[in-house]
Amino acid sequence: MKHFISIHDISVDEFHQLLDLGLKLKKEQKAGIAHPILQGKTLGMIFTKSSTRTRISFEVGMYQLGGHPLYLNANDMQLGRGESIYDTANVMSRFVDGIMIRTFDHQDVLDLAKYGSVPVINALTDHLHPCQAMADLMTVYEHKGRLEGLKLAYIGDGNNVAHSLLYACAKAGMDMSVAIPVGYECEDIVVENAKADAKATGATILTTHDPVEAIAGADVVCTDTWTSMGQEAEKAERVKIFKDYQINSELFAKSKEDSVFIHCLPAYRGYEVTEDVIDGPRSIIFDEAENRLHAQKAILATLMAK
Ligand code: CP
Ligand code: NVA
Repeated sequence: MKHFISIHDISVDEFHQLLDLGLKLKKEQKAGIAHPILQGKTLGMIFTKSSTRTRISFEVGMYQLGGHPLYLNANDMQLGRGESIYDTANVMSRFVDGIMIRTFDHQDVLDLAKYGSVPVINALTDHLHPCQAMADLMTVYEHKGRLEGLKLAYIGDGNNVAHSLLYACAKAGMDMSVAIPVGYECEDIVVENAKADAKATGATILTTHDPVEAIAGADVVCTDTWTSMGQEAEKAERVKIFKDYQINSELFAKSKEDSVFIHCLPAYRGYEVTEDVIDGPRSIIFDEAENRLHAQKAILATLMAK
């Protein structure tokens, strides 16, 4: 594994190795056992979008691994004034040992990896959010004791979070059903790739427009904001289109009795999810947020310890 850009690119073994390492590092951290695996190494972290969890968890993660996190707001970089990805990738590769990037265009992440010589980590693009999906399945594993054979239902927008969950569930051997309004579906190529990966692990992928069909028998119920970063102008229209896709107690009750609720956050209560569900006893959103740290430390250690 040279980069971490899409879960579709990693093997089933690599996927499980990352999860196992994340769980091990979490245990060590909680026990006060230091693991300075990245001593002397620097991670350059480029942000062209806002972040709470991603920035904090990567900064803290690098610190806990003995390395140095370097926060770079793209607006303060020459990148924000039109310097090319080619030059940025080459220059940064002379200074840092790894690059984490959160941006709009997925191609920019691919180009950074292509032109630079250090590992690149995708910390969210309009297309994918793979670090989130690793943390999500790590959290499900902790709560359910297994992944294979479980069913995850995603109801809402066919966005970056949905795409990465499709890839992650396919690698994990988890069945996944997505219910998304007409016109907002996941990209066909992602569904096709996930279905191909799912074949190898025995998982199934169901795409539908019907939330009730998707949530039936689900062990894990997931949603995300209806308005992702960059789509703010569409908010009023989206609220109307997505209103029947809200996870409320009535819909949640149609999943398994012991199902858990996950959400990558930030969440908008009263829109994609109601308070009684997200703040209810089966919501595991804060364990999920914490696991961004542990899952990403595994990614950092795997890519940058070499
Ligand atoms: N879930 C997530 O990526 O959160 P931030 O946007 O706060 O980083
Ligand atoms: N889909 C959301 C995820 C935020 C972490 C977005 O892209 O804004």
